[in-house]
Amino acid sequence: MFKIVTLHVNGKTFELNVKPNATLLQVLRDELGLTGTKEGCGTGECGACTVLLDGKPVTSCLVLAVQANNRKITTIEGIATSEEELHPVQRTLVEHGAIQCGYCTPGVVMRSITLVEKPEASSFTKDDIRDEMSGNLCRCTGYQKIVEAIYNYIQDKNKNETPEGRGV
Ligand code: FES
Ligand code: FES
Repeated sequence: MFKIVTLHVNGKTFELNVKPNATLLQVLRDELGLTGTKEGCGTGECGACTVLLDGKPVTSCLVLAVQANNRKITTIEGIATSEEELHPVQRTLVEHGAIQCGYCTPGVVMRSITLVEKPEASSFTKDDIRDEMSGNLCRCTGYQKIVEAIYNYIQDKNKNETPEGRGV
């Protein structure tokens, strides 16, 4: 038995027949070919499958596709500002050497882009960032460079938002 779902993914709308037990992760990867979202554990532990559901980060291996019916989904393929330009958070991670094998990176990016927009982010310490990112496991980097990249991104953002930073 299949169910019809309507998914709004990265600004496009898809109507799909899905199994009632199909996860959002499976549908994104297998039906829509959006393989940037990775499967690590499949049990909500590693964060590799993180996408935004109505703007909030979720582990897509724990969300059924039918639960995403008529909702807005953003994947790693949907965040760049243009074909040539990375999202600024992606660029920061690259510049800080926070990417090694890259398997965790899509999930790290999706979590980070919402983290840096939190109202309280401007006062986050590195420990706060570690806590915020604790649902995203990385077996390569030891986390230090990921945390530094996000911390520095927030510091730069703070500077640019002060009157001096805006050149006012
Ligand atoms: S694959 Fe979803 S949390 Fe690991
Ligand atoms: S860069 Fe390899 S798992 Fe994070």
